[in-house]
Amino acid sequence: MPSAERRPLVAANWKMHKTVREAEEFLDRFVGEIGDLGGVEVVVCPPFTALAAAVERTRRSPVRVAAQNVHEQDSGAFTGEVSIPMLRELGVAGAIVGHSERRALFGETDEALARKVPALLDAGLEPILCVGETEAERDGGETEAVLRRQVEADLAGVDPPHLAELVVAYEPIWAIGTGRTASPQQAQEAIAFIRALLADRDSSAAAAVRILYGGSVKPDNAAELFAERDIDGGLVGGASLDPDDFLAICEAARP
Ligand code: PGA
Repeated sequence: MPSAERRPLVAANWKMHKTVREAEEFLDRFVGEIGDLGGVEVVVCPPFTALAAAVERTRRSPVRVAAQNVHEQDSGAFTGEVSIPMLRELGVAGAIVGHSERRALFGETDEALARKVPALLDAGLEPILCVGETEAERDGGETEAVLRRQVEADLAGVDPPHLAELVVAYEPIWAIGTGRTASPQQAQEAIAFIRALLADRDSSAAAAVRILYGGSVKPDNAAELFAERDIDGGLVGGASLDPDDFLAICEAARP
């Protein structure tokens, strides 16, 4: 069971799924059923087009809304990008950054993340920073080296005490969308390692920062993952698209 000083957090990464109407249908149902989650924080990350509707449909609920990406500049000649002031205007609470799909398919670099994470924190938005190794890197015994490289590079611009304000998601790439979940022990080991890396910079921030597990989290494996000492919740892709499945996963994070 995670530490009492860290509130469990479950985040839905909808990726490129759900039109505005589909997002509204999901949220009307989900918000209607969520009830009292006993202190579990819930964040939904729709595509940019559905952010405004999602903020509107969750207004009188404990659910918060975050984006799936952001640009670090406030404005400029960056075709196709969306800035932090644009998200803030909508009432968006944060953004996923460094997702492996953005790193692999859209060239998001550690250098860009080193600018995005402090820009979000400065604006009072919550970054959900994703890190994780490929299968070849795990097989080659490089998991810790990869995590160290990503955590050190991506968070280089964050003042150590502010590390407590972000969320990190450990997402082994071989477990994303594959139905192959990391075992609770594998996830716990990697997340404890990430926490230790952060403790090298600021031990009290490391004790307070939420670190999630992501990669094929489902209603039937969530509870055993979330029971591990350092796992503070989950970042959920496929299983977050169905309101009943996502609710069951949120329930599994109850302290
Ligand atoms: P998954 O995706 O739950 O479908 O594996 C998780 C993620 O990519 O954040």
